[in-house]
Amino acid sequence: MQFQIAVIPGDGIGPEVTSQAQKALDAIGDEYGHQFIYTEALMGACAIDATGAALPEATLAICKKADAILFGAIGDPKYDNDPNAQIRPEQGLLQLRKELGLYCNIRPVKAFDALIHNSPLKEHIIKGTDISIFRELTGGIYFGDKRLNQAGDQAFDDCSYSTTEIERIGHLAFAEAQKRRKKLTLVDKANVLETSRLWRKVITAMAPQYPDVHLDFLFVDNAAMQLILNPSQFDVILTENLFGDILSDEASVIGGSIGLLASASIGSTHALFEPIHGSFPQATAKDIANPLASILSAAMLLRHLSLEKEAQAVEDAVGKSLELGFTTQDIASSQSFGTNKVGDFIADYILNPEDTNRNFENIFVGQSTII
Ligand code: IPM
Ligand code: MG
Repeated sequence: MQFQIAVIPGDGIGPEVTSQAQKALDAIGDEYGHQFIYTEALMGACAIDATGAALPEATLAICKKADAILFGAIGDPKYDNDPNAQIRPEQGLLQLRKELGLYCNIRPVKAFDALIHNSPLKEHIIKGTDISIFRELTGGIYFGDKRLNQAGDQAFDDCSYSTTEIERIGHLAFAEAQKRRKKLTLVDKANVLETSRLWRKVITAMAPQYPDVHLDFLFVDNAAMQLILNPSQFDVILTENLFGDILSDEASVIGGSIGLLASASIGSTHALFEPIHGSFPQATAKDIANPLASILSAAMLLRHLSLEKEAQAVEDAVGKSLELGFTTQDIASSQSFGTNKVGDFIADYILNPEDTNRNFENIFVGQSTII
């Protein structure tokens, strides 16, 4: 089959990790007879530099026509340190989420056995952790009215949620829990916030439609602590935009590296796939960035296109690279490999799952036939 993929490499390490994900997709194409047709588009600091806009019209148009969007990262320190900047790279991503209606952000967090020693958390605490975080992505404080008073000494960010916004992601999260270990935890701050009380009311009212799912609730401060104390108690976590942003970065510690966390942002007509790490400017173009989160995002993209065995093949290749220690320096225990080499290994394994053990020596010295 043929698929149109919009590719937004973005800033910092975005381009180099995204091209490893494309290598994996191309290997899948060769192996399973698909064609991925890429159209590149600008977003973020590179788009501001080139066009003056963080999300150019042309990018939006390309994304709207695509079957799926593969995105790298955005952000540049020159904007982070300038509170007066009128246009920021992040606005591009937020606007894209809103324009495409990508209301449901899914962030899987797994403690891979091969990496368990890498986490700063104790092995017996994180072993077996397998969480799927469902973060609401187009509402809440991120998108409420923002105001600074005339004197410039008081600022406001409104937080609002409607029943409809809560219900649509609620259904997806309950359905996911049904496919997994049948537990859904709503994380909120219902002891303080009116929006959180609405979340509780709406999600509680939906629960009878999913009688096999056990629903429980946690305040976000407690959830932040429980994630570190006892992460394996969680199955699916459902939460609003800001809490989900914070908790998913925290949860990345469990896997041993933020360089492993993939994500999908889904709406009713569009879907975007991206690693959750940022643009990591210090590592740009050094061939040290971990491409696995981007490659795992490509696996989520394949699954979204109903290519289940293809998605599994990519995940198996990532599992193999972790098992063999063919990884970048952030997670390597002894010798580490560059971004490109890890990408080559993944593509090679997808094409020759049998041969790779034999070729491993060759890849090791950079002589694999496909490199
Ligand atoms: C994320 C990022 C974004 C967010 C930034 C870049 C706007 O941190 O995807 O988690 O806060 O949503
Ligand atoms: Mg974030």
